[in-house]
Amino acid sequence: MRRMTLAEKIRMVHGAGFAGFPGNEPSLVRSNGGAGFVPGIPRLGIPDLNMSDSAVGVSNTAGQGRYATALPSALALASSWDETLAFQYGSLIGAELADMGFNVSLGGGVNLARDPRDGRTFEFMGEDPILAGNMVARVIEGIQSHHIIGDVKHFAVNDQETGRMFANSVIGRRAMRETDLLAFQIAVRKAHPGMVMCGYNLVNGVHACQSPFLLDQVLKKNWDFKGWVISDWFADHSAVRAALAGLDMEMPGGRYFGAKLERAVEDGRVPMVRLNDMVHRILRTEFAVGIVDHPPEREVPDIFKGFRVAQRVEEKSAVLLKNSGLLPLDPARVASIAVIGSHADVGVLSGGGSAQVSAPGGNAIAVKMPPPSDFLARVMIPVWDPSSPLKAIRSHVPGARVTYDPGTDIAGAVAAARAEQIAIVFVHQHTMEGMDVQSLKLPDGQDRLVEAVAAANSHTVVVLETGGPVEMPWVHRVAGVLEAWYPGIRGGQAIGNLLFGTVNPSGKLAITFPQSDAQLAHPTLTEPPGPKPKPFAPTARPPFPIRYTEGLKVGYKWFDAEHERPLFPFGFGLSYSRFAYSGLRARLRGRHLQVRFSVRNTSARAGTEIAEVYLSFPERSGEPPKRLIGWARVVLAAGQSKTVRMSIGALYLSIFDTRLHHWRIYPGRYTVLAGASSRDLPLAASVTLP
Ligand code: BGC
Repeated sequence: MRRMTLAEKIRMVHGAGFAGFPGNEPSLVRSNGGAGFVPGIPRLGIPDLNMSDSAVGVSNTAGQGRYATALPSALALASSWDETLAFQYGSLIGAELADMGFNVSLGGGVNLARDPRDGRTFEFMGEDPILAGNMVARVIEGIQSHHIIGDVKHFAVNDQETGRMFANSVIGRRAMRETDLLAFQIAVRKAHPGMVMCGYNLVNGVHACQSPFLLDQVLKKNWDFKGWVISDWFADHSAVRAALAGLDMEMPGGRYFGAKLERAVEDGRVPMVRLNDMVHRILRTEFAVGIVDHPPEREVPDIFKGFRVAQRVEEKSAVLLKNSGLLPLDPARVASIAVIGSHADVGVLSGGGSAQVSAPGGNAIAVKMPPPSDFLARVMIPVWDPSSPLKAIRSHVPGARVTYDPGTDIAGAVAAARAEQIAIVFVHQHTMEGMDVQSLKLPDGQDRLVEAVAAANSHTVVVLETGGPVEMPWVHRVAGVLEAWYPGIRGGQAIGNLLFGTVNPSGKLAITFPQSDAQLAHPTLTEPPGPKPKPFAPTARPPFPIRYTEGLKVGYKWFDAEHERPLFPFGFGLSYSRFAYSGLRARLRGRHLQVRFSVRNTSARAGTEIAEVYLSFPERSGEPPKRLIGWARVVLAAGQSKTVRMSIGALYLSIFDTRLHHWRIYPGRYTVLAGASSRDLPLAASVTLP
């Protein structure tokens, strides 16, 4: 840094532009085709930064003619509760980024599902900060293990898409620390991501990318973050203010951190030490993660490895929500199946926006593409990955008749369902960045389709391909429900294996499924006054408040506190095995809570149970009824029993004291609860915390 000129320093703290936007720098031609590019300084051996979105795989690569593995959604991954798997997920992304010549990843989304209608719910890790923070931390570690700079985003409380450029998230300080910020805190402290991306929104009246509270006080001082803060694309609103607040790099261009910042440094409005700090953070990270010593080497991505990881993730994260005994399907007894709906003959759905992974060979369904000038219409087209559930199902029952009906005409679907022994209906909900869903109802009359098919065939199973929770008014009339999320490039095969029991389902919901929107903390989505904002429109409108009055009570904590019965609770998921819990012991040892209990597989089938531990706080602590503090995936042979041991550190037992400005343990009597879901906790033990 000592050898850098002022111009070179300024050059490092902003991007070179964005394809299709005015004002790009000539160096942009060197870009590798990702969402962001910051030219390096060849004279000093400082590499170009080539950034790609990578929430669920390396995004939008088809324009460069590249293949990338479409992984199941991040919410799917979170529903595996499997941290080793999360590392493999990140590692695959890191490897493929390197194969394509990228050295910076823009994945790591961990905004809490405060509102399940958020169009990006599929990109994030669900509603619980401890589960989400730990899972995203492992993803980031996996990415950075390939010498790719990782990030965590969108900091902070960027929890809906509607009006995202001018939404003002209003939330109490304790609530913020214990919910949305805790997920980031865990990720930053455990995984040391190279970057934190600040969001578009305002938090308590201040734009996230120029918030001294968020960027300087919390992130850099309290959490000792050593990387750099990168703005979301066009989320910076100033030079001096943002620089002083702690923003270190503006993306995608240099609207503020180019000439304006240079002038501000020259005339002293931004001290040189602050610019040096920005540059130091960037340089330090480049060496710490290893992009200087280990530049990416281009390779053809290992597609088969990608297939294996994608399938493994889906098989561990799909959630069996209902089974009245029909599943797993027994090939010896299945004579015929009607597969219905959602293009299940050719593919599985994926989520849209900057997380969109290009489908190999193009969209599996035939679509008429709008002209390139109509960017919005093009990005809104749902992309189906070429992985056919129909073919996978057929492969399990080669002797049976397996038909396909598109489900577009209810009478046709009913006839198809009536003609066969079993009906499997695929339903879907497309979601994407830039917009939210208006309600949790399935779109396009799919509820009517399921009702009609279920009325025609009592052996009806529903497979959901959704971004997050949806209503299921027909749930009592069907024999089985499998939540497959956006299942990725091997989704069809994984769904087939799960339905036929080749793989025993083990995923559990990382997000509550309400019965309807009416049960949510916010029964309707908060929208700005005036005209409905257009998705992705760069808008300068006066901020409108989203009052997160539920505060600490996100997801299951809200349902617990309000005594609402969800459709399917957080942490819920069935298996083809059965498990029994016994013998809970909890005691304090030093600053750790030691928890021990047994889980037995009481069935004749090997399976994996995610065992969950919650803590219920003393009444006067002001906490919601309970908090998830630990979990374990317990692999059990038929009849086998295992002792599960957990040691839970002080942070997860603490509350954030806004007077002391730090975490502390509230003294009193606590109840430790263990079991199979947030609403199935047969074991309880009490413990006193000093
Ligand atoms: C998204 C970010 C993304 C960036 C670059 C933004 O619109 O909010 O998540 O990383 O674009 O594509």
